[in-house]
Amino acid sequence: MKKVTVSAPGKLHLSGEHAVVYGKPALVVATSLRLYTTLETGAGATLLRKMRKNDRYIEAISAAFEKKYGASIKDDVGITITSSIPIGSGMGSSSALAVSLSGALCVWHGMPWNPQAVNDIAYQAEKTIYKGSSGSDPAVSTHGGILWYRKELEFLKTLWLLPFKIPKTFAPFVLINTGRKESTGDLVAHVGEGKKRDEKKFAVLLDAVEKVTKQTAQSIHDEDEKGFRRSISENEQYLEEMGIVSAPVRAFIRAVEEAGGVAKISGAGGIQTGSGVVVAIHDTAQKIIALAKKRKYETFQVVLGGEGVKMEQATA
Ligand code: PMV
Repeated sequence: MKKVTVSAPGKLHLSGEHAVVYGKPALVVATSLRLYTTLETGAGATLLRKMRKNDRYIEAISAAFEKKYGASIKDDVGITITSSIPIGSGMGSSSALAVSLSGALCVWHGMPWNPQAVNDIAYQAEKTIYKGSSGSDPAVSTHGGILWYRKELEFLKTLWLLPFKIPKTFAPFVLINTGRKESTGDLVAHVGEGKKRDEKKFAVLLDAVEKVTKQTAQSIHDEDEKGFRRSISENEQYLEEMGIVSAPVRAFIRAVEEAGGVAKISGAGGIQTGSGVVVAIHDTAQKIIALAKKRKYETFQVVLGGEGVKMEQATA
């Protein structure tokens, strides 16, 4: 029985989310949470052909693959998807799906293993969900590690895989899932409206975000945890100025700060209820966990700088 499994990681935006849509750099890191796509022939699995009919995104990924390679996916391909990445919370679950499914389709059809092609297919699929996508999510899910990413032009995206890790001496991050109602596209559009209302103010804000993104990378490089924490805090202020952090999440982050920690949202944010995943740092992780528990937020920890897209198995 022919069987192919390809996995791809979720991500966190350490800095530069939203600004990256407007050509500024983003610092993104792959996590140890992964999504697995298995393609196989034989009974048991749901047919990809059926899933394409019921799920616009699966259809977009499959169609982007077919277009890129001029191939057509056969009728008898079965598909199974498993994932430990929280959905719709800023941790890159949809990009991990696009990357792992396009990777699996490439292997299934005997194409050479080409992460850049996988990234392209995933990016094209993501753009069908919201047109303005920067491509930072599929890029980090494809390449893994800590990525410095910038979309200069539609056809020119620069990425630099940083040759270092988050220092082991840094206190471990606690992740808090505050949930969110809006889609990434809604939130990107919301920031776009704010930009239109006051272009001058927004330009100043974008420059400030770029500066803090550089400070964040520098502090990781220098193993300067104090500087890193300052950058996280400053970054959160700018994200709040963009209007994508909800009132309850702002209150939660103030509580973390009052307890001596720092925190920022990561990814698109959220306005009506939660703001997706919050990254928090404190010398005593338990303090953050207790604050989150009070608000009934789920907390978890991940290993950062995970591997990018990976061929897990391929049997003919
Ligand atoms: O959907 P999220 O939470 O992973 O956010 C994506 C990051 C944005 O910068 C908000 C959008 C983009 O295309 O880069």
